[in-house]
Amino acid sequence: MAAPGVVVELAPAKVNLCLHVTGRRPDGYHRLDTVVAFAELGDTVSGDTVSVEPAVDGIFLRVSSGLMPVGKGMTAPVVPAAVDNLVWRAAALWGREAGELRAVRLTVDKRLPAGAGLGGGSSDAAAALRALSRLTGRPLGARLRRNTVGLGADVPMCLEPRPWRARGIGERLQPVALGRDLPVVLVWPGRAVATPAVFRARSGGFGPAVPERVLEHLATDPLSALAELRNDLTGAACAVEPAIAEAIAAVGGLDGCRLARMSGSGSAVFGLFDDGAAATVAAAALQDRRPGWWVRAGVLRAAGIDTRLERRPV
Ligand code: C5P
Repeated sequence: MAAPGVVVELAPAKVNLCLHVTGRRPDGYHRLDTVVAFAELGDTVSGDTVSVEPAVDGIFLRVSSGLMPVGKGMTAPVVPAAVDNLVWRAAALWGREAGELRAVRLTVDKRLPAGAGLGGGSSDAAAALRALSRLTGRPLGARLRRNTVGLGADVPMCLEPRPWRARGIGERLQPVALGRDLPVVLVWPGRAVATPAVFRARSGGFGPAVPERVLEHLATDPLSALAELRNDLTGAACAVEPAIAEAIAAVGGLDGCRLARMSGSGSAVFGLFDDGAAATVAAAALQDRRPGWWVRAGVLRAAGIDTRLERRPV
């Protein structure tokens, strides 16, 4: 270790501003063309956090889900504190790539709903890798970055939480210029959906990629540009979980909402606003009406998110 201590990294929520399904690979994975951005939420700490500290021997993982929403009627999958947790697998990948398995204690504080299409697990895994890099003073090498797609299609984009266009299955990344920060309301209607089930429920062919003209338009008038794009998984996800359609309608009807859409394979829905104050008021009104939903106001940051929370000695 370069220096002992505890390194804490933020794992922000990922939002798919659009998600076009453009084809299918022979191995069954789908080819996508998606534009993502990352949210800074209104809470003091806006997203999951992952801490890493040195341990005497072996990898230890503690997941605190106390902060994850589990209200009445909500069905969130339990996040395992075991070898099938993406954070654990990220640490194992780090160990393999760094040439040895480090002895570390990892702690994940979950604040984002799981099974929501907000990239929680992927963002946690990416945060763990950034934290290990800071703790050990070793940079995240190009090969390690490439190999993170084996943890999950969304992990590479979460390594550096900034606006990206992602193609392939999500690993072919290209920076995207978002003209400005976008005030957002995130809504999770209290019920998780499993990504494979949504892809299985998809019917029909494949759509066109995101036109270059629209990508360029994102830099000048993001809301108008996004109105031309879509999430091709919406129909399938709503068939799997009808609460998603209800959430899209509810968010689209909020005062000041310019665009309402599902993120990823659902079940979370986002609404974009011109004005941050309007987003905050709308979120509070919706939370009042739907106490069983997880509702947050925040901002999608055009410049990306600073994820370095602290580094303190032990
Ligand atoms: O990579 P990740 O673990 O997030 O993917 C979960 C599942 O979602 C895959 O096993 C696959 O069924 C589906 N998927 C897909 N095409 C993608 C991403 C995910 O078919 N690009």
